[in-house]
Amino acid sequence: MATTITLTSKREGAAVTGRSDGSLKGLVLSGGKGSRLRPFTYTNAKQLVPIANKPVIFYTIEQLVDAGITDIGIVVGDTGEQVAAAIGDGSQFGATTTFIRQDAPLGIAHAVATARDFLGDSPFVLYLGDNVVMGGIQSYVERFRANGSCSQILLHPVPNPEAFGIAEMSGERVTRIVEKPRKPASNLAVVGIYMFDRGVHDVIEGLSPSWRGELEITDAIQGLLDRGLTVDAEVMDRYWIDTGKMDDMLNANRMVLGAMEPRCDGSIDEKSRIHAPVVIESGATVEDSVLRGPLIIGRDTAIVNSYIGPNSSIDARCRIVGCRIEDSIVMEDSRLEHLHWPVAKSMIGRFVELQGGHSAGGVYSLTLGDHSRIEMPDG
Ligand code: G1P
Repeated sequence: MATTITLTSKREGAAVTGRSDGSLKGLVLSGGKGSRLRPFTYTNAKQLVPIANKPVIFYTIEQLVDAGITDIGIVVGDTGEQVAAAIGDGSQFGATTTFIRQDAPLGIAHAVATARDFLGDSPFVLYLGDNVVMGGIQSYVERFRANGSCSQILLHPVPNPEAFGIAEMSGERVTRIVEKPRKPASNLAVVGIYMFDRGVHDVIEGLSPSWRGELEITDAIQGLLDRGLTVDAEVMDRYWIDTGKMDDMLNANRMVLGAMEPRCDGSIDEKSRIHAPVVIESGATVEDSVLRGPLIIGRDTAIVNSYIGPNSSIDARCRIVGCRIEDSIVMEDSRLEHLHWPVAKSMIGRFVELQGGHSAGGVYSLTLGDHSRIEMPDG
């Protein structure tokens, strides 16, 4: 059975940037095993893996708040405690959060059914916590509010439609929607951001599990179409990625870093050279190094005698000495020292210790989970 933990935030002073709408709720899904992101997901929820030093799911919550949605339910699974600890009562986002436990990962529509008490009869925006969209969702939510339709979905062309829910269109209208079709009728994937009114609950009640044993949200949308209801669809004109795999995370990291406003709240010595855009968080120190943005250096991290290249995120409390790093994510509290070969297209977990030697040649390409330890003496 679903258990609901309600944490109520103090709204006073909360930075709600968008228009507030009491009736529209947000539902963020943060369950799932994240098997394609192992080893990081052995120790952490996939929605907490950082992009530009911020957990993926934080972008989701921020975008809901920016769209005026501050009453947000978060459906969690086995990693629920970590997710709840990171998000808290929502006040850091100007929102109120309610954590809802889904006992087994039985599908997106099952998660919506699990959250029924939280949702009540409100219309809602369902946002998958591992989807990343650049530029927010405000305009889509406004359109949904204005149209008052029973559902609105967002579509995006993809090169591999077999891996997504796919919409068939007739002109501007959705005629059919199929989950992971063997023979896709279009390349328009259903993005993990859906808007529904309460009518969807009746359809979900009548759903049966799909071939993969899940209650599919695509089947729920098809059920609305079968009842003769209109499902509004819009092809998204902005970057979207479902961050299931490491390559997707690095891609999303590149995109988010590329859009960041440069700033320096840390310190850079006069021997270092900086090529913008870079973000240096408070307490970070850069000594005798070259930084070539876009990149971010997290709080209290030390960069010494190193080159940090484009598309790199080095998170808080790291120590990087004598390294060349680019196109990589280095998570909190890791130490990389004297790596003679460059590190590129890598994801390095938390509390990793990498100690290098001094021999020349080659490139490291690494996927290292939390607490990994590697010593690479001279060859
Ligand atoms: C889920 C949905 C699919 C949608 C996708 C978007 O897929 O079932 O319809 O296109 O999210 O990210 P899943 O992540 O379960 O493979």
